Amino acid sequence: MSAKYTAPRGTKDILPSEMPFWHYVETTSRAIFDRYNYQEIRTPVFEHTELFERGIGDTTDIVEKEMYTFHDKGDRRLTLRPEGTAPIARAYVQHNLHGKQPISKLYYCGPMFRYERPQAGRYRQFHQIGIESLGSPLPICDAEVISLGVHLFDELGLSGLSVNINSVGCPVCRPVIEERLKQFIGMNLEHLCGDCNRRFDSRPLRILDCKNTTCKAYLTGLPDIRDSLCHECNDHFNYVVTYLDNLGIPFKINPQLVRGLDYYTRTTFEIVSDQLGAQNALCGGGRYDGLVTQLGGPATPSVGFAFGVERAVMILQELSDYHQSRLPLVYLAPIGFDQQSRCFRLADQLRRAGFRCELDPNKSELKGHLKFADRLDAEWVLIYGETEALAKSVVVKNMKNRTQETVKLDRVQGYLENDNISRPSHR
Ligand code: HAM
Repeated sequence: MSAKYTAPRGTKDILPSEMPFWHYVETTSRAIFDRYNYQEIRTPVFEHTELFERGIGDTTDIVEKEMYTFHDKGDRRLTLRPEGTAPIARAYVQHNLHGKQPISKLYYCGPMFRYERPQAGRYRQFHQIGIESLGSPLPICDAEVISLGVHLFDELGLSGLSVNINSVGCPVCRPVIEERLKQFIGMNLEHLCGDCNRRFDSRPLRILDCKNTTCKAYLTGLPDIRDSLCHECNDHFNYVVTYLDNLGIPFKINPQLVRGLDYYTRTTFEIVSDQLGAQNALCGGGRYDGLVTQLGGPATPSVGFAFGVERAVMILQELSDYHQSRLPLVYLAPIGFDQQSRCFRLADQLRRAGFRCELDPNKSELKGHLKFADRLDAEWVLIYGETEALAKSVVVKNMKNRTQETVKLDRVQGYLENDNISRPSHR
């Protein structure tokens, strides 16, 4: 039967079978962020539209084409956040976080919204986990942020990843870079798409990020933009590269990596996967020294990254050796309606003692219970019929080695605890 209502195009339900992967990614991320002394921040899912127009840049694809913008009943112009960096910079200024400590190291997890053409790994509602380190201009911070990303993906067991890095310069050398680019691109402007033509005068660097295959073809042989970096940006880049070398992190310098957001200065980077198909970017980030000032705050050089949780989960699902362990299951099998209430109480006691328990009130016959317990991959079945009720005991059936024993009701918790310790998976 086909469903009358389906989730909107570009969104997806995350079903229980996929959840262990999500929990694994989230828990591992939090643990690694904690080791680098990052703390969580949560900002609203919608913000004033102007924040993104100013923060991300009004000629970017995100702002021009992809935002979910609406007027609320009070006629405010609001936008479902397409990314997390601008909202965090906004919160940083609003709550005066700069006054509290010299460097704020913040992380976030949550849904983002972009009206993009849906395809494998690209959604209109997707989830990002990201970090932002606000307050230091030093290249060692860029290297630490990149190395944190690499460490996290190593810990998650994601293989087939590579780090690409570049520098997009600063307000001093950006005009020089742009002029050189224009000289090169100008010769072929008529062959480039409408967007590239529009951006040629105002944001020529944007052209390097165009996804149009014809435009890409005309960009081969482009001069390396790093040749036009100012002295400071060049030094900064060389330091980042040296720190990464020091840590033994392999990376590739990609002179065309400009990223689709306007706030970047100096370092930009992406971590791509050979297992993601066309949407191969797992993680993107870089330095954004001007964003906080642009949003009305004090000069706050900053650097960060975000990765797509759907994409991390896609890679994990491909890995056959990934195994999510859950607590062993205790299945309670009351035989007959009269025994249900006592089993219900026993389940409550065991759950409070830390066991995962299932009790199916629709079944009252042993055969049905055992079949279902098998399907659930239960570790133990506690059989409680009339005989057991009279004897104040329960039959504990170990489903893995098919042995069983009668145990007094008041000793069953201790029995399971002992049996649990001696389970083969605990040896
Ligand atoms: P971004 O490159 O736009 O950067 O997004 C980061 C990651 O989010 C991408 O690498 C990708 O994994 C995931 N992602 C983006 N769009 C989609 C989509 N439509 N569907 C599924 N996944 C998607 C940023 O958002 C910056 N705020 C990152 C940053 C933090 N820069 C500095 N700090």
